[in-house]
Amino acid sequence: MSSPADRGGAAAGSALVTGACSGIGLEIARELAARGYGLVLVSNRAEPLQAAAVELRGRHGVAVHPLVIDLARPDAAQLVCGRVDALGADVDILVNNAGFLFYGEAADADPARAAAMVTLHVLTPSLLATAFAKRLRAKRRGHILFVSSISAWRFFPGIAHYSATKSYLRGFAASLRSELAPYGVNVTCLAPGATATGLYAQTGAPVELARKLGVMMDARAVARAGLRAMFARRAVCIPGIGTRLMLLLALLTPQLVIDLVRRHGPWLRPAEPGTRQPT
Ligand SMILES: NC(=O)c1ccc[n+]([C@@H]2O[C@H](COP(=O)([O-])OP(=O)(O)OC[C@H]3O[C@@H](n4cnc5c(N)ncnc54)[C@H](OP(=O)(O)O)[C@@H]3O)[C@@H](O)[C@H]2O)c1
Repeated sequence: MSSPADRGGAAAGSALVTGACSGIGLEIARELAARGYGLVLVSNRAEPLQAAAVELRGRHGVAVHPLVIDLARPDAAQLVCGRVDALGADVDILVNNAGFLFYGEAADADPARAAAMVTLHVLTPSLLATAFAKRLRAKRRGHILFVSSISAWRFFPGIAHYSATKSYLRGFAASLRSELAPYGVNVTCLAPGATATGLYAQTGAPVELARKLGVMMDARAVARAGLRAMFARRAVCIPGIGTRLMLLLALLTPQLVIDLVRRHGPWLRPAEPGTRQPT
């Protein structure tokens, strides 16, 4: 049964959202603020984070604490927990959303970028979830939302680090969900398909056109679907019928076909300038 806080009523508490200064994370923060949640917003760029805080305070009158922390640092979770404790924020909802994307063969990847991705997508959300699971378990309420991806179900060439880390999040969320359910704490895995956000900024993808054509989903629609699923205590949310059909198609596609397409695919470009083109 949903609590008043679940419904976003007067008893709404606080939520911590990572990667909250743009895209899906910002839309999740907007939706939670509209439901009355106080917010701790974490991202690594001060300016857009401050702008988000000003907007949400002004529009919804909730307390918003922006924390500028690079979540790709190995000690990021510890830093976040320390700052949350210093603020005295009583977090009821943890949203592990921060992420980034690069394309290219794994062998061509910049090791520093690969390490940042593994830390940002695996280490930091695991340790944040570990810390907040303990707190929520003690309170016997709350939610943890992981933002994974449909690429966690089907592995494609060109996004090896990305899809493997998103798969980790999917598995971690499933186990944690079983562990926390007896204590009344919910864990949901949100797995979006292509969504029109800054994630594709470095790739040159025509994001706005793709959104208009319906090839990419709107970040707000994804955020709303994810939060609806979380408050309904569902295990997994794959937003959009088109996304679910695309995933089904991907799952039905034989590996042989994927490997054939990969050999001739123009999209598998080197991750860094100066590295070789795929053969
Ligand atoms: N867009 C899609 O098609 C899609 C599909 C499936 C899953 N997802 C997932 O959805 C999540 C949100 O991505 P998005 O699409 O909304 O893209 P986005 O607009 O680029 O948002 C990513 C957020 O993560 C933050 N972030 C990145 N690196 C960080 C770091 N080292 N430390 C702290 N914050 C960091 C970014 O902050 P800065 O801007 O300050 O770096 C930004 O706020 C990601 O986990 C992504 O993998 C997206």
